[in-house]
Amino acid sequence: MWPDLIQKSKDGGLDVIETYVFWNLHEPVRRQYDFKGRNDLVKFVKTVAEAGLYVHLRIGPYVCAEWNYGGFPLWLHFIPGIQFRTDNGPFKEEMQIFTAKIVDMMKKENLYASQGGPIILSQIENEYGNIDSAYGSAAKSYIQWAASMATSLDTGVPWVMCQQADAPDPMINTCNGFYCDQFTPNSVKKPKMWTENWTGWFLSFGGAAPYRPVEDIAFAVARFFQLGGTFQNYYMYHGGTNFGRTTGGPFIATSYDYDAPIDEYGLLRQPKWGHLKDLHKAIKLCEAALIATDPTITSLGTNLEASVYKTGTGSCAAFLANVRTNSDATVNFSGNSYHLPAWSVSILPDCKNVALNTAQINSMAVMPRFMQQSLKNDIDSSDGFQSGWSWVDEPVGISKNNAFTKLGLLEQINVTADKSDYLWYSLSTEIQGDEPFLEDGSQTVLHVESLGHALHAFINGKLAGSGTGNSGNAKVTEDIPVTLIHGKNTIDLLSLTVGLQNYGAFYDKQGAGITGPVKLKGLANGTTVDLSSQQWTYQVGLQGEELGLPSGSSSKWVSGSTLPKKQPLIWYKTTFDAPAGNDPVALHFIGMGKGEAWVNGQSIGRYWPAYVSSNSGCTSSCDYRGPYNSNKCLKNCGKPSQQLYHVPRSWLKPSGNTLVLFEEIGGDPTQISFATKQVESLCSRVSEYHPLPVDMWGSDLTTGRKSSPMLSLECPFPNQVISSIKFASFGTPHGTCGSFSHSKCSSRMALSIVQEACIGSKSCSIGVSIDTFGDPCRGIAKSLAVEASCT
Ligand code: GAL
Repeated sequence: MWPDLIQKSKDGGLDVIETYVFWNLHEPVRRQYDFKGRNDLVKFVKTVAEAGLYVHLRIGPYVCAEWNYGGFPLWLHFIPGIQFRTDNGPFKEEMQIFTAKIVDMMKKENLYASQGGPIILSQIENEYGNIDSAYGSAAKSYIQWAASMATSLDTGVPWVMCQQADAPDPMINTCNGFYCDQFTPNSVKKPKMWTENWTGWFLSFGGAAPYRPVEDIAFAVARFFQLGGTFQNYYMYHGGTNFGRTTGGPFIATSYDYDAPIDEYGLLRQPKWGHLKDLHKAIKLCEAALIATDPTITSLGTNLEASVYKTGTGSCAAFLANVRTNSDATVNFSGNSYHLPAWSVSILPDCKNVALNTAQINSMAVMPRFMQQSLKNDIDSSDGFQSGWSWVDEPVGISKNNAFTKLGLLEQINVTADKSDYLWYSLSTEIQGDEPFLEDGSQTVLHVESLGHALHAFINGKLAGSGTGNSGNAKVTEDIPVTLIHGKNTIDLLSLTVGLQNYGAFYDKQGAGITGPVKLKGLANGTTVDLSSQQWTYQVGLQGEELGLPSGSSSKWVSGSTLPKKQPLIWYKTTFDAPAGNDPVALHFIGMGKGEAWVNGQSIGRYWPAYVSSNSGCTSSCDYRGPYNSNKCLKNCGKPSQQLYHVPRSWLKPSGNTLVLFEEIGGDPTQISFATKQVESLCSRVSEYHPLPVDMWGSDLTTGRKSSPMLSLECPFPNQVISSIKFASFGTPHGTCGSFSHSKCSSRMALSIVQEACIGSKSCSIGVSIDTFGDPCRGIAKSLAVEASCT
C-alpha cells in the first residue's frame, strides 16, 4: 500500500512524510533485528524519496503512538536494574544501541539529506517534557544525555525533541497538539515547528468514535502559519490499521483510522483531504513572502487579527483571522472590506485577494458506504457440512506442559513477557460438606481483583463470569456468583491483556493481571476464604497458539453438522473467496464477542464487537467553531466501538483464503460477512460568497474577467462517470450532504443545469451565481447544493 498512500499524500500537497520507528518491531529479540517485509524501513524511506518527498524520521525510540508498550520491546523490561526513560545506565545503553543502529542503516544507504537523501529531520525521545517532572532531577540529565547522544551520531540534519521546552541546543523543541499557533521555540535561532497536528483522535474499545471537522484543522494550520510557523505535520495523515497485537493501550482499538485525511482503507476522506489540499496550495502561494520575512501582526478588532508578510522586493502575503467562537465579522484591511466567518482565517497571497477561507469549503464531500456481502456465496457441499466452518475447542484451564506452580498471585506481564494476551491462573480447592459455601450455592461469590485488562472466570470448567476494564481504568473487580460442589473444585481464571500501556510516567510499571485478592465469600453468613496466597498453577498462552492454529494448518480441526455456537474459548476456521473488484475489504464481525482473527496466517488484529460504547457523549452535529478537544465530537454512541476489521487486498488471493478466529466469549461465526468500502455519493455546497477555487487564483488578474465561485465534482475512481444527480438546488437549501432538501428559495433550473453539466462526465464544474441559475430570491445570499452518484 505504501506507494499509493505516499502518492495520495503528495497529491494532497504534503512535502514530508513523518514516521515513527517501532523498536519492538525491529528488535523483537535482543540483538535480533527484523527489517523485512512490512518492517523494511529503508525501503519505506526510499519509496518516499522516489515520490519526491522528504522524510522526518522519528526514531524515539520511545514513541507512544497508541502502540504496544509505547514501542519498547518487552525484553527491555527484564534487563536487571533497568529504569525506562531516565538517567539509567542499562536503559541508556540499549537506547543508544538501537538509535545508532537506525542512524547507521540510513547513513549506509545515503538517506540523510546531508548525503543527498530524503531525511531532513529526525526525532529523539517523544513528549518527555509532558511527564518528566515525575522523574525528578534525573530527567534533566537524561535529556542532556539524549541530546548529546543524538548529536554525536552526526546525521548532518537537525534533531527535534517534541514537547520538550528545555531541549538543549542544538535540539529543536517542537509542539504537538490540536493548536500550536501560540507556541514559541526556546531560542530565536530555532524554527517554529509543529510535529503533531491531531486530525482526529484514536478509538478505544468501549469508546465512541472521535472526529475533527476539517474547518477547525484548516483554521489551526492557517493560524500557525499566520503566526510564524514553518513546518507543520498531521498526526495522522494516514493512520491505517494496527494489525496483530500492535495496539497499545490498554484498550486501543484495532482500527487506527483517526478520522485522518486518508482513511484506514487508503481512500481519500473528503472533504477533509481536498480542503487541506486547497489550504496547502493557498499557503504555498504565499511562499515567497513567508520564507523571506517575519510577519507584522495587527489587531483588526477584538479577536480579529491580521498578519502581513511583506518583503522589500514586493512580495506581500496576509492572513486575516477571526478567532471569535460564534460571531462572524466584516473587517477593513488595507482599504478593502472582508467578511470573516467566526473561527476562520482568510489567506491573501497578494495582500488583497482571498485565495481561501478556512471555513469555506470548495472541495466536494464523498459519502462512503459499506456493501455487505456473504462470506460464503456458494457453500461448498464437498465440505460435508452445511456451514463450511471447522473448529477446535480451547481447553479450560491448564493444558500445556509449560505450566508451572507458584505460591500466590503473579503480575501478568512479568510472567507472559507479552508473548500472548492470555494467562491462566488455576487453583484446585477442596470444599468440605460442612463448609458454609455449600449451604446455599447461589449465595457464594468469587471475588477477583485484577490490574486488568479483562478476565473470564471458570468454575469446574464452566464460564461463571467475565469482567473488563476500560480505557480510563484498566482495573477489574468482580463478584461472580458461583456454585461449588462437595470435594474438589477447580477455579480457572483466564486473564488477558488488550495492548500494553503506552503513555505516562512509569507507564511500564503499571502491570496487569490478577494480583488479587481472590476470595470466596459466603454471603449468607459472611465467611470469607482468601485464596490469594495459595498454590496457583500458571499457563502462558493458549494451547491453540502453541499448535499453530492461527495459520489454519493442524490436524486438530474438526468439522461436523453441528457447528458449536455461543461457546466460549473456541477456534473457528473457514475458507473463502475474495470479494470481486478492487474496493477495500473489511470483515464485519457481527455476532461475535471478542478475540483475534487471522487471514492466511496474518493477524488482522484483535476484534471486540461486543464492547459497546456508552449511549451518551455523542453530538448529532459538531460545531467546528471554538477550541477542539478529543471528546468534543464523537459518533457511534451505544454501538460496538469497532465492528469492521480491515483485510488488506494484498493479503488475499482470489480464492482459497483461510480465516481463523479465536473467540473468547462466544459467538456465531456464520454471521460474519464482508463489507467492501465504496462511494455512496458525492456532494458539495458552495455559496456565492465562497472564494474562487484556489487553482484559479490569479487567473482573474491575468484575464481581467471576474469569475464566480465554482462547485466541482469528480468521480473518485478511474473509469467512473457521474450517472445521476440526486439533488440540486440553487437558493437557500437546507440540510447537509446526504440530507439536502429544498427551501422556498430555489431556482427551477438547478437540476437540469447540473444534469446537463455533469451526467456522463468524470468531473464537472458549475459557476455558482445568478448568471447561471437566475435569481430565486433577491437580496439573499444563495448557495448551490448538489448530491450526485457515479457508476
Ligand atoms: C501524542 C503522542 C503520539 C500519540 C498522540 C495521540 O501525545 O506523541 O505518539 O500518542 O499523542 O494519538
